[in-house]
Amino acid sequence: MSNSLLVTRIGSLVTNDPDIGVGPLGIITDAALVIENETVAWIGPTGQSPAADNVIDAAGAAVLPGFVDSHAHLVFAGERGDEFAARMQGQAYEAGGIRRTVNATRAATDDDLRQILNHLAAELLHSGCTTFETKSGYGLTVTDESRALQLATEATPETTYLGAHVVPAEFANDPGGYVDLVTGEMLSACAPHSKWIDVFCDRGAFDADQARAILTAGIAAGLQPRIHANQLQHGQGVQLAVELDCASADHCTHLDAADIAALADSNTVATLLPGAEFSTRATYPNARTLIDAGATVALATDCNPGSSFTTSMSFCIAVAVRDMFMSPDEAVWSATQGGAHALRRDDVGHLSVGARGDLLVLDAPSHVHLSYRPGVDLIRQVIVGGSAVRAPQSIERPPL
Ligand code: NIG
Ligand code: FE
Repeated sequence: MSNSLLVTRIGSLVTNDPDIGVGPLGIITDAALVIENETVAWIGPTGQSPAADNVIDAAGAAVLPGFVDSHAHLVFAGERGDEFAARMQGQAYEAGGIRRTVNATRAATDDDLRQILNHLAAELLHSGCTTFETKSGYGLTVTDESRALQLATEATPETTYLGAHVVPAEFANDPGGYVDLVTGEMLSACAPHSKWIDVFCDRGAFDADQARAILTAGIAAGLQPRIHANQLQHGQGVQLAVELDCASADHCTHLDAADIAALADSNTVATLLPGAEFSTRATYPNARTLIDAGATVALATDCNPGSSFTTSMSFCIAVAVRDMFMSPDEAVWSATQGGAHALRRDDVGHLSVGARGDLLVLDAPSHVHLSYRPGVDLIRQVIVGGSAVRAPQSIERPPL
């Protein structure tokens, strides 16, 4: 095979394909896998491994699909560590803090923003996110939103126009005028650089009628909808997500029984963001209720300077297991296949033949260790399209 990579002696391979392995994670033990031309070309027992140009000996370690982070805000300048410190001493989180990052982002040069974006994208990749989404939303002018999205396209195809993050200070007395801008000139400037349209439908941001107008305009311009919903209080955001067939309703912190039933009966993924509840000291949503009702749940980092400044999906998995009542298996599925569903991608999030060759070799015998060993960097190797982007660490280890 040309340009091929064989990963062999995999102790436990998570494929997320129940047709080829055990359980919902489609686990195969003592497995091997070949990636050719950036896609998975063969999966089978180690003993039947074909020859390949390059070989990785997993030596009994677990292998899983690369994480799919379906929610991040990476185009911004400045940081807000002082707000985090104040919150940990009792101050409440409110949407208004976004405007502070807007001021810093508008003042930054393209190169400043590119450098921050690239740094955070590299952090994501290093911690195992082989696919990630990123949003605008800290520019809030036609020029600043469209430059954010142009920069974002340099880093990922999953770009989201979030002109409707908050109403900027200069429109404080004319929120309707800002919605007109977001659905008019700003949309025209941003749509060519965006796959998605998003709106923050919550207290201090946009109400359900404004959100409906914004998402509907985006859909008419060829964008696909997703939404920030029910983070700070209960509202109509989740119902709107289902009404408009949004790929995902993100946060879902405050849900009632009707929201859960609506999500379960829809194609809309409930994307949970453990970093946001952690960093705002909010009550975690209960993933168990969503999963038991039949909803599809994804986990994402929500990396942003205000409410969740983490690029670690492993951290999100551990918190989701501990505080959102997901099983370790469910959390790994939600961080991989769940994220792929939230981005409506069928080429990532699983390791069936024909999927992209994006995978992680863990420094552990099982994916369960991602939550069992919280705070420990267990990502030994990151493979994207069959190429190693994170080399093995050189420290000596006992046998797994
Ligand atoms: O997803 N909820 C809205 N947006 C971000 C927070 C942004 C900020 O505080 O700067 C979020 O949590
Ligand atoms: Fe967000």
